[in-house]
Order: sequence, then C-alpha cells, then structure tokens
Amino acid sequence: MASFLRRFSSSSTKSDKDNNAVTLVHLEEIRDHQDRIVEEMNTNFIHRDEEIYAPLLVRDMKWDGFKERVLHCGCGSGRTGFTHFLPQIYLHDSHLFAMDTSEQLVSYAAMKYPHASVTYTVGDVTSDNFPFKWTTFDKIFAIHVLQCVKDYRGGLARFFDFLRPGGQLGVTYATQLFTDFLDREFSHDEKWKNYFEDLPEESERSESFQHAFHTCLDSLGFEVKKIKTEPMEYTFPSLEKAVVYYIGTSPYVKGIPAELRDPFEEDCLEKMTTEFNISQISDPFHATYDCLVVVAIKPPAEEEKHEKSGGKLKSLRSRLSLP
Ligand SMILES: C[S@@+](CC[C@H](N)C(=O)[O-])C[C@H]1O[C@@H](n2cnc3c(N)ncnc32)[C@H](O)[C@@H]1O
Repeated sequence: MASFLRRFSSSSTKSDKDNNAVTLVHLEEIRDHQDRIVEEMNTNFIHRDEEIYAPLLVRDMKWDGFKERVLHCGCGSGRTGFTHFLPQIYLHDSHLFAMDTSEQLVSYAAMKYPHASVTYTVGDVTSDNFPFKWTTFDKIFAIHVLQCVKDYRGGLARFFDFLRPGGQLGVTYATQLFTDFLDREFSHDEKWKNYFEDLPEESERSESFQHAFHTCLDSLGFEVKKIKTEPMEYTFPSLEKAVVYYIGTSPYVKGIPAELRDPFEEDCLEKMTTEFNISQISDPFHATYDCLVVVAIKPPAEEEKHEKSGGKLKSLRSRLSLP
C-alpha cells in the first residue's frame, strides 16, 4: 500500500546518489523520476498558488534598482522564477539566484529553464552551509517554503540577515492545512510523538497565526508593507495525493527513519480517512487552508535614507533651477 508514496518522494538518500552512476540508462531513469516529481508538484495547490501569488508579490515590490541580486528560496522546478521573476530581472540587468534543498529539482530546473541571468544552486536556507554567505540580496522570494521548515521564525531571521538594508522580502505561507492537523495528531501519538517534538505551540497554527507572523517580522526589525490572509480551498484528485503531499513536505516526517515509513504512512491514511470521513483513498479530498501573503522591507541604512531624500531634493532643486 505504501509504496506509491515513495514513488514521489523527492528526498534523495546517500545510497540513491551512490547508485546514480552516470550512464545513459541511469540518466533516463533520473529524468523520468524528476518528471514524476514535477508532475506531482504541478497537480497540487502549490502550482495554482504560485500562479496567483508570484505576480502579486512582484507587483507589490519596488523594481527601481539595476544589477540587483534576487534570491528565489525553494525554487522547486524553476518554472515560477523563470515565468514570473525573470522578466523583471532581465529588464533590470539583475541576477536570479534560484535555490532549493532538492538536488533533483535543482538539476531539473537547470535543464528545463537555463538562462544567463539565473544561477541554480542546491542549498538549505536553515543550514550553516547556506551557499550565498558571500553576499546579501536586494530581494528574496519564498513561496510556500517556510511551512516546509520547522522554525519559520528562524527562517525569517535568516532572510533578514541575507537581505541588504533596504532589501525586500516576499513570502507566502499556507496555514490551517490538513498537514497541520496531521502534525498535531502525530505530536500526541505515543508511537510517533518523538519525531514531532519541535512542533510550535498550537496557537501559532490557529487564527492568530498572522498576528504571530507579524510580531516576528516586527521583532526582527522588518517594516511590514503588506500582510493579509486569504481563505483558500483546493481539491486533491485523491486522498492518496494529499498524503503524498504531506509526506513529501512535512519537515517532521523527514526525520522518520526509512524502516518506519511504511507503518507511518499507514497511520497517516488511517487518521485522514477517519478525521475526514473518507472511505476510499482514491476518493477526491477537499482541503481548506489560509494563505498568508507578506511583503516586508529591511529598513535602509541611515546614509541610504539621507541619500534618497537628498536625491529627491536635488532633483527638485534642479527642476526649479535652484542652486
Ligand atoms: C512548496 S514548494 C515550492 C515550489 C517552487 N516555488 C516552484 O516554483 O516550483 C517548496 C519548495 O521549497 C523547498 N524547500 C523546503 N525546505 C527548504 C529549505 N530549508 N531551504 C530551501 N528550500 C527548501 C522544497 O524542496 C520545495 O521545492
């Protein structure tokens, strides 16, 4: 029963890597596997939400600089960055640094969406080995990524550090999803609770989530330009697919050893069928959730503020022919 879940798991193990000797047969297999992962991603709500929110984040940011460095954190298949961020980046002679933890997705993105203005890199925003320590960014985008890390506050703190003063952050976060229900259920389940120990307080995953997120942004020093929560819904083609999504994205499930995955997956399906009163795992699954949309700025350095206001004064003076 559980083997279908592993077919779409995007995490690569050391032994996967060891086995990936570069022969044509293996390359074919890898491509086939990548296509399945991407196909799976494109049939869930992430794809739909990216199409809605990526253009809105782009619209809500200022694009008045040239030669900017833009980070797309959690770039996945690369399609969103290529379609929605690259046009502005190209127009402003800037550069897109597209990063994801999944080696398979990064190599897929590099193969499918190569461009001189984009660098694709494997990297983890929460890790000490963050690949872009050598620089800061003018803009950071993270669409539905922070819900895949255990500590969203830590993630936001890293974004603050990675931005230059005056830099802009665009984030979306899906909350109140069935995945939160499963995380909570497992955190109280004797069999599995050890793997869910770092789960944030329940209140953080409730209606007050926007408030908690806002407070965190304030405390880090961000100026919040926009924060809103949109009620959303999505019908997964089957309960199976919804569970595949959970298994593939929950940061807690990643910690469960391979030999315990089968019983865990069985328990997942059982909790879902019971809670949502679904008899067949092939039945469609209707999910509701909230999408938090945020645009925030790391305040500019004092000199930059002065330069800007000085610049405005200067141009006013020159228009009025003042000395
Ligand atoms: C929900 S998907 C978003 C897909 C992507 N925006 C696209 O255009 O296809 C979240 C992505 O974030 C990545 N991710 C999860 N945790 C991450 C982390 N700590 N650092 C960087 N990327 C991460 C996942 O591998 C996944 O591809």
